[in-house]
Amino acid sequence: MIKHMAIIMDGNGRWAKKQGLPRTYGHKIGAERIRDVALEANKMGIQAITLYAFSTENWKRPDDEINFLCKLPKMFFNKYIKELIENNIKVSYIGELEAFPIETQQVIKDALSKTNHCSGLELVIALNYGSRREISLAANAYAQDVVDGKVEISNNEEVFSNYMMTSHLPDVDVMVRTSGEQRLSNFLLWQLAYAEFMFVDYAWPEFNEEKLHEVVYEFNQRNRRFGGV
Ligand code: FPP
Repeated sequence: MIKHMAIIMDGNGRWAKKQGLPRTYGHKIGAERIRDVALEANKMGIQAITLYAFSTENWKRPDDEINFLCKLPKMFFNKYIKELIENNIKVSYIGELEAFPIETQQVIKDALSKTNHCSGLELVIALNYGSRREISLAANAYAQDVVDGKVEISNNEEVFSNYMMTSHLPDVDVMVRTSGEQRLSNFLLWQLAYAEFMFVDYAWPEFNEEKLHEVVYEFNQRNRRFGGV
């Protein structure tokens, strides 16, 4: 049973370019796929899905693409927040939201508060997220708590996990990356320690309910031993 799935939604730009369309069109359709996958994953009883929507490295992209990506959450939630609430889907995020325009921050926070009572799938959106940054922030916060006398110094992994942005979530069971690239790109390095990896060839805009079922089927065929025999 999958409790937590992580997805690197890659290939939007190339998918759009192949059809002679702007890269941003790929992101727009990619956002539509988020809706489809969230609804289906919720029906399947998956507890949480963490989606890599914007990395700490994505600021290197051209301004017009960054502007478009900053506007996407508003387009997405205006269109789908009602449906998410009706389906008991809870929205959350990881990453440092402060870097985004105020309007984008407000849209995300609004989605959080409107779905705070929901107890179905948790749709976690990674925004301005980078795993090394997350780990450094956690180490810093832990050190500060030790200095302030709030916690004992220790090398306990569970204690450290509490300082991560995903502290309330189980470890990732399966990580999917679309579009054929086989890298982690600074995504959930700590949380993926025992995850099954699936690198699929198609682009994120081509992901759909059927592909989600294929991934889950493949996961169920794998023999997870967690270092045991
Ligand atoms: C990677 O594809 C994708 C992104 C950097 C953006 C993903 C964001 C979304 C799908 C939508 C986010 C929406 C909400 C509601 C949070 P790429 O552009 O790197 O593809 P490429 O490798 O083909 O260039």
